[in-house]
Amino acid sequence: MTKIAVLGYGTVGSGVVEVIQTNRDLINQKTGDSLEIKYILDLKEFPGSPIEKLIVHDFEEIVNDEEIKVVVEVMGGVEPAYTFVKRSLLAGKNVATSNKALVAKHGAELLAIAKEKNLNFLFEASVGGGIPIIRPLNTSLSADDIEEITGILNGTTNYMLSKMYHEDADYDAVLKEAQMMGYAERDPSADVDGHDACRKIAILSSLICGKQVEFEDIYAEGITDITLQDMQYAKAMGMKIKLLATCRKNGERLGAVVAPCLLGKKHPLYNVEDVFNAIFIKGNMLGDAMFYGSGAGKLPTASAVVADVIEAAKYPRQSMMTVWSEEKMVLEDKSERENRFFVRVKGTEALKEELEQTFGEITVIKPEGVEGEFGFVTSVMKEGDFERGAEKYPQIQKMLRVKE
Ligand code: HSE
Repeated sequence: MTKIAVLGYGTVGSGVVEVIQTNRDLINQKTGDSLEIKYILDLKEFPGSPIEKLIVHDFEEIVNDEEIKVVVEVMGGVEPAYTFVKRSLLAGKNVATSNKALVAKHGAELLAIAKEKNLNFLFEASVGGGIPIIRPLNTSLSADDIEEITGILNGTTNYMLSKMYHEDADYDAVLKEAQMMGYAERDPSADVDGHDACRKIAILSSLICGKQVEFEDIYAEGITDITLQDMQYAKAMGMKIKLLATCRKNGERLGAVVAPCLLGKKHPLYNVEDVFNAIFIKGNMLGDAMFYGSGAGKLPTASAVVADVIEAAKYPRQSMMTVWSEEKMVLEDKSERENRFFVRVKGTEALKEELEQTFGEITVIKPEGVEGEFGFVTSVMKEGDFERGAEKYPQIQKMLRVKE
């Protein structure tokens, strides 16, 4: 029997209990052993609940119990999760977590401790919720040099942008709706400002370059400035606006950015709608691959956590290989990154000739019904060159990167 402790009985923690209960026979069969939840750590009591007797309030009880072989950390946030996870590993316990903030900040260090101790620190659910992506990168795709990952990694913003596009609902209305549906928090900034997607792409970036990519070094823009007028332009161009988190190798360098982008119809991420997430991968041997599914939610996320628990229970003393050192990866400056740029400008198309002298050949976009302004798309150019050119035009009101 493998005894486990769950740290946190919130949405994901209660999901972990539900997954283990619902699929008990199947899980035990796959583990080759039976899983038993011995403790659930939470500040609250849960009187009358079937898990009432499992609740403890003191982490010491868990870390000092030699019977506990796997600790499931689903509390969220960096502290006290970091202290609890580190102490669990140092005490010889495997750890499975869904906590992207913890993994993005301390993943390399916690993996090194796990390796040293011949244990596993597993974090499948930290990116893409229920979508398998961490294990595929570490195993199935290990023969490839992964050159690019582009993902829709935040369900809340994808839901909001989908509603704005398809239902012509404005930003404030869709935010309220996302909050009512339970997708967005009362303080939605982690999602709408791009911080959540940024931590997730930092984890994926670290895994593809094998070094520590700090999320603070990644340029991140959210969706708060996206308007229905932007959607009108997107429709006129046969494109959609999606919050994309991208990392791309450029020789020895790595560029990473989170920003709302115009996405062309041919891109595999174009049809990813509502709360769904998807991760597009380009490998030097594999070519293109895409992983799609539920990127959040109680049961999908818990399913990924429990799969990690099964893995840890099957191989309790065998550290799985994950190349992610604490050496810091210096990211390519965003001014070096090449893109086509979509720009909205006040005024009339009479400005085209002058704009072409600055930006080179441009394509003008004029959606039906839009007055007093127009849009244009540049050819591929460096972001630094675009920014220098744009400084000359106070008429510019909006820029979005274009991904085809
Ligand atoms: N707030 C996140 C999202 C949840 O909307 O995708 C999963 O990290």
